Amino acid sequence: METTFHRHRRLRSSASMRRMVRETELSVSDFIYPVFVTEGQQIKSEVPSMPGVYQLSLDLLKKEIEEVIRLGIEAVIVFGIPEHKDHVGSEAYHDHGIVQKAISKIKEDFPDLIVIADTCLCEYTDHGHCGIVENGDILNDESLELLARTAVSQVRAGADIIAPSNMMDGFVAAIREALDQEGFTNIPIMSYAVKYASAFYGPFRDAAGSSPQFGDRKTYQMDYANRLEAKREAKSDIEEGADFIIVKPTLSYLDIVREVKNDCLLPVVGYNVSGEYSMVKAAAQNGWIDEKALVIEMLTSMKRAGCDLIITYFAKDAAKWIAE
Ligand code: PBG
Repeated sequence: METTFHRHRRLRSSASMRRMVRETELSVSDFIYPVFVTEGQQIKSEVPSMPGVYQLSLDLLKKEIEEVIRLGIEAVIVFGIPEHKDHVGSEAYHDHGIVQKAISKIKEDFPDLIVIADTCLCEYTDHGHCGIVENGDILNDESLELLARTAVSQVRAGADIIAPSNMMDGFVAAIREALDQEGFTNIPIMSYAVKYASAFYGPFRDAAGSSPQFGDRKTYQMDYANRLEAKREAKSDIEEGADFIIVKPTLSYLDIVREVKNDCLLPVVGYNVSGEYSMVKAAAQNGWIDEKALVIEMLTSMKRAGCDLIITYFAKDAAKWIAE
């Protein structure tokens, strides 16, 4: 027989051999853990569609963060569920808003933990949109000022990184300018630059109580059919001064992660969103999949695709599994 062939299996012959040629390694320092904080006391309320994810009151936060730190996780992203919502999302930029209180509490107890603030209005507005609403439209430029105020108040409370997720045009520029004016020139912006309008956010909206009360988010979040648009979004946010670029969701968007990674010199962050978490949990609860193996495979594939960091509800579980 003249035709030659390649013996790829040589490099797969044993566990040691496979480890030696492994290209991607997950590490606990890749993970950012999302935390949901709520007003009240002694509240630890499990999100029904997200087993293992809780809304926590401030008095129970310390215990949760202690565990996060014990597992070696170095960063959390904080989401707030306010007591009162209104038309302009006042609680988002109130100096004693729920997120501001949570951030200062966490930083007081754990000064070395990186605390990231999600900067958006949808959890705080009665209409559930990420900007100001007038006659059914989500106003762009009018929303920027409130988002910038939100970011400044979050940094005043102690946030180490601002992560704006609202998808208004120009939000990075507006927030950068406001932070700089306040002297916060060293606070990085982790921009949700490439954020698709996605059915994968369903469970999060239960967790944060942030479903839009009319319409949808398609006039500001991206169409999942588009790839070039992702490149444009990432490019403009980099020009406006972003320090990290988030792609969201991640699991169905690994092609986009790679595309953005190839274009950009900044760290790329994948947001492994709520629906991606819930699907795995539901299948695991039914005994249909091996959760541990599947989660590690999913997270590794995200890193292979180009994620330098991953925001994931699996962070605590994955940290345990990696340590084993
Ligand atoms: C706020 C925000 C959302 C998520 C993160 N920040 C919800 C949305 O845009 O509807 C989704 C996170 C997840 O699904 O895990 N705008």
